[in-house]
Amino acid sequence: MNNSVTIHDIPGYISNDIMDPEIPTILKSEGKIEFMVADGESIYDAPSFFNPIMVLNRDLALLFTRIYSETFGYKVRAIEPLAGIGIRAFRMIAETGEYVDEVVINDYNDITIQISNFNTNKLQIQDRVHSFKREARSLMLDLAENGLKFHYLDLDPFGPPTPFIDSIWPVLALRSMVAVTATDMTALCGVYPSACIRKYASVPLNNHHTHETAARILIATVVRSAARIERGVRPVFTASVDHYTKVFFMVNKSAGAITEAVSQIGFSYTCKSCFQIHYEAGIIPRTKTCCAEEITDIAGPLWVGDLFDKQWCENGLTIINNDLEEIKNATIEGKERSYLYPSTKRMKKLLEEGVNGSDLHGYYCMDVISRQNRIAQPRIDNLAEKLNEQGYRFVKSNFVKQAFRTDAPGTHVIDTIRKLVLDNE
Ligand SMILES: C[S@@+](CC[C@H](N)C(=O)[O-])C[C@H]1O[C@@H](n2cnc3c(N)ncnc32)[C@H](O)[C@@H]1O
Ligand SMILES: [Zn+2]
Repeated sequence: MNNSVTIHDIPGYISNDIMDPEIPTILKSEGKIEFMVADGESIYDAPSFFNPIMVLNRDLALLFTRIYSETFGYKVRAIEPLAGIGIRAFRMIAETGEYVDEVVINDYNDITIQISNFNTNKLQIQDRVHSFKREARSLMLDLAENGLKFHYLDLDPFGPPTPFIDSIWPVLALRSMVAVTATDMTALCGVYPSACIRKYASVPLNNHHTHETAARILIATVVRSAARIERGVRPVFTASVDHYTKVFFMVNKSAGAITEAVSQIGFSYTCKSCFQIHYEAGIIPRTKTCCAEEITDIAGPLWVGDLFDKQWCENGLTIINNDLEEIKNATIEGKERSYLYPSTKRMKKLLEEGVNGSDLHGYYCMDVISRQNRIAQPRIDNLAEKLNEQGYRFVKSNFVKQAFRTDAPGTHVIDTIRKLVLDNE
């Protein structure tokens, strides 16, 4: 470790001289900033990448770096090794700069770096956003070798994160947070099972529950990679939305955290009759029965623990609810006031699932149950009310439409739905 090396001494650092991009650009905005992006017929034709749909993904990064900073009482040093034109970093500094000290952004695409540099200067954040043009893995190892470590790393690739995961650990501070996105949902959701087995060393399952299975396979992959280099990770927030899965992990070096993490890898067993999902830790799948039949729908290895940390989600929800309250008051007073984050309302729903359902593993789908049992669908709120009356918990899930989490057994859920439909006839 050489502490005299600064970030600007690392090869690949792009100096802050203003460069006009060599290609046509257009003005866009997200959150509270405006920036230039490469012009193109579609996001995939443009010579550098910016996807407006990922605003929720970026908002979550701003929210969770803020929670991290408030929890530990210091400003975050962040790195985005696959940054595209760097919108996430620009927004972290320009919008939530009281929580994020500086961000290293990197991309190996020439045009992308030109546009990113141009925007950094225009936004006047060049003292806190440091751009690199390097191959991501070699940059991370180089930074780490020179003692430059980060509290937050956001890994946001095209497709699977698996080519990069093993390279992220050395560049992270001993206590840190990592966010990993996967967009190769056809592999993780089991449309192409062999791709999932090849990339994630896990057997997926393409059924109603595939979006949670996908997230759990991704988590197990990150846990195993971390454990190989003596790090323990645990998910604090999980989303499976739009065309991707994204998970935020806390990273810890203690032996206890490593043992705890690997002990929560196992398999899921889905009953084809009652749709109940049984999770069990272990290194090989077992024979299991439900509804008097042997379960054949088995997926894994995957994460069998909680997908959310209740406290982290509560902290996020407090920030969101305060923002919504301020907007309400501003409206009453006839003042203009925009949301803190463009995806505030969506994030509220995701965080509520984390607060109320962190220990409810697996979800049911109303439409799937109704179709299989050839019964009509009652209103989901009626089902919630009925199960609550009977002492069961009920939480709507955002993983797919009509999904819900409950501690009621599958057979009881089906019976309750059937009774609700009969009562209404
Ligand atoms: C999905 S985009 C990133 C989007 C960005 N995180 C955002 O929020 O807008 C992935 C980026 O990674 C870059 N990339 C892919 N492989 C890379 C590698 N091995 N090293 C450096 N950059 C890479 C691509 O050029 C692309 O811009
Ligand atoms: Zn069953």
